[in-house]
Order: sequence, then C-alpha cells, then structure tokens
Amino acid sequence: MSRFGDALASSVGKKALMALTGLLLVGFLVEHLHGNLKLLEDPSGESFDDYVRFLQGFGPLLLAAEIGLALLFLAHVYLALRLTLENIQARDHRYVVRRSRGGATFGSLSMFYTGALILGYLLKHVYDFRFDSRFFADPDALVKATLSRPGHALLYFVASIVLGIHLSHGFQSAFQSMGINHPRWTPLITITGRILAVLFATAFAAFPIYFLFFWSGPIPQ
Ligand code: HEM
Repeated sequence: MSRFGDALASSVGKKALMALTGLLLVGFLVEHLHGNLKLLEDPSGESFDDYVRFLQGFGPLLLAAEIGLALLFLAHVYLALRLTLENIQARDHRYVVRRSRGGATFGSLSMFYTGALILGYLLKHVYDFRFDSRFFADPDALVKATLSRPGHALLYFVASIVLGIHLSHGFQSAFQSMGINHPRWTPLITITGRILAVLFATAFAAFPIYFLFFWSGPIPQ
C-alpha cells in the first residue's frame, strides 16, 4: 500500500477522515437549514417550493450531489463502526494483558448511540420526503402534512435534540482528531461546537413544533 493508503488505514487516519466527513456533513446541514427556513419565513410555502424547483433545475448535477452526500454519510458511518470495533477490541486485549481499562470512552460510546439514532431517523426522513412522489408535485404541502401529525412531529423533535447532542461532542472532537489541539484554540472550538449544537437543535426542532401547534392553514392530504 502507498504511504497515503497506510496513513488512511491507520487508526489516526480513520479518525481524521471521520472528522473531515463529519465537518462536511455540518456544511450540508447549514444549507439544508437555510432551505428549510423558507417554510417559516413564508408560510404560504411558495418560496420553499421555488427553492426546491431551483434545486431540481440542476438535473443530473443535483443527482450527482445527492449521491456524493449519500457516500459522505456512508463513509462517516462506516468509519464510526470500524473505530468503535477497534476500540472495543483494544479494550478487551488490554484487559487480558494488563488488566487496565481503556478503549471506548463515554464520549465515543455516546457518539456511537446518538449516531445510530440519527442514522435510523435519516432513513425514515429521506423515505418521508425524498422518496415520496407527492413531494415533487407540491413540496411544502407534504412537509406541512407530515410535520403536523403528532407521531411524526415527536420523531422530528426528538431527532433534532439527538442531533444537537451528537454535534455538541462531535464538533470539537473532529478538530482533536485532525490534530488541532491548542491551549488557546481548543476552548474556543469547544464553545463554538456547543453553540452550533444548540442552534441546530433549536432550529430543526422549531419545524415540528411550529407545524404541530401553530400551523393554522389547511392541512393538505
Ligand atoms: C425538521 C427539520 C427538517 C425538515 C423540515 C427537513 C426537510 C427535508 C426535505 C423537504 C427533504 C427533501 C428535499 C429534497 O430532496 O429536495 C429533506 C431531505 C434530506 N434531509 Fe431533511 N429536514 C429536516 C431535518 C433534517 C436533519 C436534522 C437532517 C440530518 C441529520 C436531515 C437530512 C436530510 C437528508 C440527508 C436529506 C436527503 C437530501 C437529498 O437527497 O436531497 N434533515 N429534508
């Protein structure tokens, strides 16, 4: 294997790659939130529908971006699974040899569980919108109809909180994994990560709350 291949296959390389894919996914979330906010800015839904049509106008380029996004998610999940397994194996090995504890930490385990919950939510979420043909006929109507149902609203609300918990640890952990550990910058990165986590959780949770409790328009079928 090349030096670059060796570096990527090492634990440090996998962590750095997981960090990078995680930060790119945060970039996606910023754009996703920006698009979704059009639902709240303009309750008629027209500007959200325009935004969806604008994206669809990219045709094959949009499909390529969606495939890229799916690969990014898959890479992030695959690396998380590999690193968690390696941590568990390292812990068992150390226990036998030196009877010391190590490997998986509370932080890494909670990341694994919140990550697994987000993955489950995402499958349901993409099924709800992206793979429902009614979405393309009338995008805002399907989102409103989905989020104004109590069961769905609860799921989307809980998922937003879980996403916040995942980001509150994951953001600063990504910088550590990329070797950025500095007495001056690390506390700043940690605070930024926590602020981002609260902002994302609050903003994404606002959609189910708004459509369940405050949406007074007609509920489309
Ligand atoms: C309650 C807030 C949310 C709303 C209203 C919402 C709405 C939507 C809609 C309408 C789509 C279909 C868009 C399209 O294909 O053009 C979509 C796709 C998607 N959403 Fe969300 N979303 C929310 C939260 C989230 C969260 C928290 C995540 C990530 C953790 C997420 C990840 C995705 C992904 C990966 C897709 C597929 C993108 C694509 O294939 O184009 N969403 N969302």
